[in-house]
Formats: sequence, structure tokens, C-alpha cells
Amino acid sequence: MNNAIQEYSLIKEMADYLKEKAGDFVPSVLAILGSGLGNYVKSESVRIAEEIAYSEIPGMPVSTVHGHAGKFVLGYVGEIPVLFMQGRIHLYEGYSEQEVVRPIRAAKLMGVNKLILTNAAGGVNLSFKPGDFMFITDHISSFVSSSLRGENIDRLGTRFPDMTEVYSVRMKEVYDKAVSQIGAEPKMGVYLQTPGPQYETPAEIRMMRNLGADAVGMSTVIEAIAAHHAGLEICGVSCITNMAAGILKQKLSHNEVREIADKSEKNFSRIMTELILNF
Ligand code: HPA
Repeated sequence: MNNAIQEYSLIKEMADYLKEKAGDFVPSVLAILGSGLGNYVKSESVRIAEEIAYSEIPGMPVSTVHGHAGKFVLGYVGEIPVLFMQGRIHLYEGYSEQEVVRPIRAAKLMGVNKLILTNAAGGVNLSFKPGDFMFITDHISSFVSSSLRGENIDRLGTRFPDMTEVYSVRMKEVYDKAVSQIGAEPKMGVYLQTPGPQYETPAEIRMMRNLGADAVGMSTVIEAIAAHHAGLEICGVSCITNMAAGILKQKLSHNEVREIADKSEKNFSRIMTELILNF
């Protein structure tokens, strides 16, 4: 764990590199695309200006073990300059909480003040079905360690940030409208992050439902905490790719998650575009 000065200098180095590469492109929104949702940047809604591989960015956590292919995509949606992360950094890959949120903090130094978090998630709420989208109204972080652990970076935010309203309330209306337009029912709920990489047991899912979770996944919450700490406005959407463990007879597989995320691509793209244009 770096101290605040060391970590801030890594964040700044990353931000300076990205700024230099981006030139005239000054993003106002950061959008993190979840598992199977990365193809959004190839959709007709996005006019790509630049791509920057994670591997060339100083301070960017890159897995040499898995040959992790990830990149920033700088693109316009309408007139909005958006910094996309195609490929997310996960805790389960072995990165520290600080490393996972470093790119979000770097984006903040670049001038970004809005964050769209997307993910693939398991449905814990029994009224959900695969292919549904869930607007994240709140989260449960209690199963992962905090991204704010360690010396506080005072230049980013306060030591003990309030978490009463992490997710933008006004964006719920935009989301409802976008989902209705694709003929689906707008769902909303509480997202719970586990460290992963294993899926949950049926007993864990029963516990999570009792705790008030509607969806479960292996990302997003520690990102939202760091972003909220740094004062970003946050909008989060989960793509429910499967019912969580024990709800249906079948076992869970990453292939199933990817398959449903792929199938949801078109609907996801329409929702994303509306969210970006109205954020
Ligand atoms: N559990 C955890 N993470 C997930 C799931 C799940 O069921 N589906 C997609 N990501």
C-alpha cells in the first residue's frame, strides 16, 4: 500500500500521460464497461478519437500473467467527450484496491466529473431475469476492503466521506425512460460486491438476499467509493446475466455470463447512449 504522496504522484503521472495523448480531447465523463459490454465503443453511437492501451500507460495496473488486453477509448457520443475503459481492473486478479481505482482518480485529475459504472451481475432478487438491466440505487461494500484504506489523499477528498447518496438520483428518470423505450421493465436495486473470483454458494446468496442485495458481482463498489470520495457524480447499471447461485437448477459459468451480456448488447447500447447524452 502506497502512502498518500506516492499514490498521488502515480495518479498524476497517469493523468498527465493520458492528457498528453488526448490532446484537444477533454473528457467530461468516464464510462467503465463491464464484462461482455465492452463492444459499446464499436457501436454507431460512438465516434472514436483515440485509443490508448493500458500497457503503455505509466502507473496503470496491467496483468503480465494473463496478458490482460485492456484500453482506454476516447470517443464522442453526440457532442459529449467520453473516456471509456474497455476492460476493467478487478480485485480478483490480485490488484490492490488502490490500483483498481487509480484510473478513476486519474480521470478526475483530467477534468472528468461524471462516472458511469456498468457490470455483469447475478440476479439475487427473485423477480429479476437474465437480460434485465438494474439501475444501481445503493450498494453493500461489507464483503470487500475499502479503496480508501491507508493514508487519506486529502487533495482528492475527505478522510471519512459520507455515503448516504453515492448514486445519482436524477439519472434514475433518464434510465427509466431509456429502458421503457426498448420495451423492457426498468428494474432498480442494491448491488453487492464480492472479492471473487469464485461465484457464490446458494447459502451465500440467501444471506445476501436477507441483507438487502438485489444483484451480486465482483466489481463496481470499490470504484464507486473512490469516485464518490473524489466528488464524481455516479450512475451505475448492472446487466443481469444470470440468476445467482441456487436460484435455478443449473450451475453458473462465465460463458453463460458472457453469452447473455453479448445478447443484451443492443439494448445495453441504447441505454448507455441515453445515459451519456443526458448525464
Ligand atoms: N455472481 C458474481 N458475479 C457475477 C455473477 C454472479 O452470479 N454474474 C455475473 N457476474
